[in-house]
Amino acid sequence: MFYEPKNGHGLPHNPFKAIVAPRPIAWVSSLSGEGVANLAPYSFFNAVSDAPPMLMISSSPVPDSRGKDTLDNILKTNEFVVHIVPHAMRDAMNVTSGDYPPNDDEFVRAGLEKAPCNLVSPPRIADAPVAMECRHHINLGLPGEGGVRGSHVIFGEVVGIHIADSALKDGMLDVTAYNPLARLGYMDYSSVTDVFSLNRPKV
Ligand SMILES: Cc1cc2nc3c(=O)[nH]c(=O)nc-3n(C[C@H](O)[C@H](O)[C@H](O)COP(=O)(O)O)c2cc1C
Repeated sequence: MFYEPKNGHGLPHNPFKAIVAPRPIAWVSSLSGEGVANLAPYSFFNAVSDAPPMLMISSSPVPDSRGKDTLDNILKTNEFVVHIVPHAMRDAMNVTSGDYPPNDDEFVRAGLEKAPCNLVSPPRIADAPVAMECRHHINLGLPGEGGVRGSHVIFGEVVGIHIADSALKDGMLDVTAYNPLARLGYMDYSSVTDVFSLNRPKV
């Protein structure tokens, strides 16, 4: 089949997110202007640079005038923390995706312990295998469709990285120790359980 997204796909469900899969999941903590902790997953997420390390997350538009708390908080405070979700914490991650009001602390909702960060104010998830402390660099409003505003992409610089000792083996990050979760399409997920290497050609 071939389709132009602007004309519809004719399938029971939009396949776009199933096509761009697997996607890593940023589990993002931030603080409101009033100091309330916020935590939510974002799979429109990736690393975009490694020197300095930088990443992006994209916040989809919501029907009401209130934006997503993560976006509002980052635009107000300029700081956030991106955690990688281990397979074992998938249910807690899912709890934090609920549309709770801004004064609702999703760490408490999901029963997650907080730990302080070294360089930024938002708390991090104590038990996450990896937490990246980030400062907001720049944001970009994407075009919307049908008169609705578009997604909002936040770029951040990773200024500090926590790695659990249990995730390191012989000085290298061993993802099979915590099986990072990946988002597929529809309601589906996967996780990394095995790894193989390929050497690049020497030209
Ligand atoms: C695995 C997963 C990935 C998600 N990825 C995104 C995303 O990339 N962008 C987005 O706007 N919402 C995404 N969501 C939905 C948000 O997590 C949800 O709207 C949440 O309530 C936002 O919380 P906040 O208002 O505290 O930021 C995702 C949800 C799940 C479960």
